[in-house]
Amino acid sequence: MNAPLCAQDYAERARARLDPAVWAWLESGGADERTARANLDAWPALRLRGRVLRPLAGAHTRIDLHGQRLAHPILIAPTAWHGLVHQDGETATALAAAATGTPYVLSAQSGTAIETLAALPEPPPLWFQLYAQVRREDTLALATRALRAGALALVLTVDAPVNGVRNAEQRSGFRLPDTIRSVHLDGLSPPAARPAPPGGGPLFDSGLLDAAPTWDDVAWLRDRLPAGTPLWLKGILDPEDACLALAHGIDGLIVSNHGGRCLDTLPSTCDALPAVVRAVAGRVPILADGGIRRGTDILKALALGARGVLIGRPVLHALAAGGAPALAHLIQVLRGELEVAMALTGRRTPADVDAGVLY
Ligand code: FNR
Repeated sequence: MNAPLCAQDYAERARARLDPAVWAWLESGGADERTARANLDAWPALRLRGRVLRPLAGAHTRIDLHGQRLAHPILIAPTAWHGLVHQDGETATALAAAATGTPYVLSAQSGTAIETLAALPEPPPLWFQLYAQVRREDTLALATRALRAGALALVLTVDAPVNGVRNAEQRSGFRLPDTIRSVHLDGLSPPAARPAPPGGGPLFDSGLLDAAPTWDDVAWLRDRLPAGTPLWLKGILDPEDACLALAHGIDGLIVSNHGGRCLDTLPSTCDALPAVVRAVAGRVPILADGGIRRGTDILKALALGARGVLIGRPVLHALAAGGAPALAHLIQVLRGELEVAMALTGRRTPADVDAGVLY
């Protein structure tokens, strides 16, 4: 095979290398995978307005998020258990993130502790993603641990109080090996309601949803975090939820449908983004993820009002294909593609990328 040139090349390499059950785990969407596919289809379906002869001197991809200066608007989305796809697990991800100046949103379901990554000779900008735990004190303890280790921001994922119906993963017989565990969750109460897949018993009346988090839990956590801690909510698709988040003092929103892994037939994030952007009206920054595979996809997300994007599966693809160097290469490729797309639409900076780049 020739050297990989783009995200899809890494996906093909990963598929060829990985155990089919691990591939099914990482690639699958919910149910019939319509939302997962819609994420992939929606960005390329938007057409760009190419512009010519506009001044490009001094062009750059830098953005600021809550005072953090980033070299480019690409972040690594939180995904569980990188040890499933590469022997160096999250350490490989962190090395690639550091080499490319990319914020790494570490999942609380990681196999490597945040302290280990923070202690690397050159750690990346680390953010920490968590789910609300059954006991509020456990959620706060996780957040506090992450902040002590140096996390620059917290991301509370709110779109998965129960697991989605992931039939492709179920069919594959995927099981988490004993060698991999979620190190941050050791010693905490069992995770919030994560019932068996449908067919494994009724969800309602099981008591499992009694622990599902609500806006009160968000307010409780917000009130106990140190002043100035950026708290993001991940998994917002609805403008009314976006407004509620602002009313609860949230500092940033991630428009996401969890890569189409939760509720199938939700809209693509590309389709959901504009209404959330309108509702928020610039009061807090918005990021988006789901189906970002090309620099043109990033440009379109910026054009629709996102400040930046996160990539999920492509990170796992690159790790599986070649560990940290492959992931660093993939991020540089995406950044390079974004630069080409900006140049050919006549935009010098991310702030210049407005709805005018779209037909
Ligand atoms: C995820 N995602 C996720 N999100 C989260 O908040 N915490 C997590 O632990 C995980 N774990 C996870 C595992 C795997 C295998 C995948 C594919 C996804 C969702 C992730 O952060 C992100 O929203 C999507 O992956 C974005 O879509 P793309 O880039 O994969 O299309």
